[in-house]
Amino acid sequence: MASLDKSNILNALATVKDPDKGVDVVAADMVQGLVIKEGHVLFSLEVDPSRGPALEPVRKACEDAVYKVPGVLSVTAVLTAHSGEAPQTAKSAPKAAPKTASAQELNIPGVKKIIAVASGKGGVGKSTVAINLAIALGNQGLKVGLLDADIYGPSVPRMMGIAEKPDTTDGKKLIPHEKYGIKTMSIGYMVDEDTAMIWRGPMVQSALMQMMNDVVWGELDVLVVDMPPGTGDAQLTMAQKVPLAGSVIVSTPQEIALADVRRGIAMFEKTHVPVFGIVENMAYFVSPGSGEKTFIFGEGGARRTAEALGVPFLGEIPIYPAIREGLDEGKPITAIAPQSEEASPFAQLARKVSASLTESSSERAAPKIVIE
Ligand SMILES: Nc1ncnc2c1ncn2[C@@H]1O[C@H](COP(=O)(O)OP(=O)(O)O)[C@@H](O)[C@H]1O
Ligand SMILES: [Mg+2]
Repeated sequence: MASLDKSNILNALATVKDPDKGVDVVAADMVQGLVIKEGHVLFSLEVDPSRGPALEPVRKACEDAVYKVPGVLSVTAVLTAHSGEAPQTAKSAPKAAPKTASAQELNIPGVKKIIAVASGKGGVGKSTVAINLAIALGNQGLKVGLLDADIYGPSVPRMMGIAEKPDTTDGKKLIPHEKYGIKTMSIGYMVDEDTAMIWRGPMVQSALMQMMNDVVWGELDVLVVDMPPGTGDAQLTMAQKVPLAGSVIVSTPQEIALADVRRGIAMFEKTHVPVFGIVENMAYFVSPGSGEKTFIFGEGGARRTAEALGVPFLGEIPIYPAIREGLDEGKPITAIAPQSEEASPFAQLARKVSASLTESSSERAAPKIVIE
């Protein structure tokens, strides 16, 4: 296994020809984002979007060729549309159409609004907020979908208590699972968590686009997207490609988390996505007996950051054991006890988000920059 390196893989790929161009896929500069991890090989083939379906046999041939390399345990190749963001190895490949074109391609019929739930880093409760926000919006009468776009750590299957693979309509389109009044789709329904963890760059984007485009969402008032954590290229590209009506940024109160929040807001600003505001998760711990609040991470940090950055503060979500326990059992608090004290911060958040959605509807056509 030690001898397995990029040149082994590229040599194997160089035996596969692009039938239209008559050159091999390596010479054609199609191979991007090659990742080798303990015998598992992942890469994308960057192609013109219009040729995508026709190149499925080439994708398969690439997988087969790499699989024959000694030491290779698994191979995953995905077709990625050309994007303006040229990956590091692209040298002479012509630049593709501007990003706005790809954003237009991604017009999901029937889905009125898409909002992103994002965070600068993982572990701050992004999925907790995304899931409970989606269910709370549903409780308020909206038709809601939830897309788990956190390919690095999909948690919607566990937190919603869904293990089954989704059905397909004609073998092509995926039917989202319906539970607790919302429709959900997650990469975690299709691959196990370990596979998802090692996805990178172009593969992430390609998988995300498939989950947006190839799912029969039906009529939705709002699709809530649990974004991958961070503010790197994958997140930026996603923010550019998905026509987002707005974003909700989740943070914990600490200084370090707040620095990430600033980067997150800058990312949405760069991509002209309105920032609906910052929600402070794990704001404080409520002692079950006395109801006394303990500010474990300091007090009011996210509120101050929101004020400093000129974005709305969407409220605090305390640490409640019932929030975590519900999600661990696949029974979100907003679904099993919507009237409870623990569910009420999510209900409040949902009201603010739906108000922002209504406000944003009149301004959808023109990109809006929230922070000057
Ligand atoms: N307000 C909260 N109260 C109690 N537990 C929480 C709260 N927010 C998040 N958690 C727990 O913290 C862990 C990390 O949250 P998660 O939503 O998975 O974070 P992320 O998606 O940002 O990585 C989970 O076990 C979750 O149940
Ligand atoms: Mg998560």
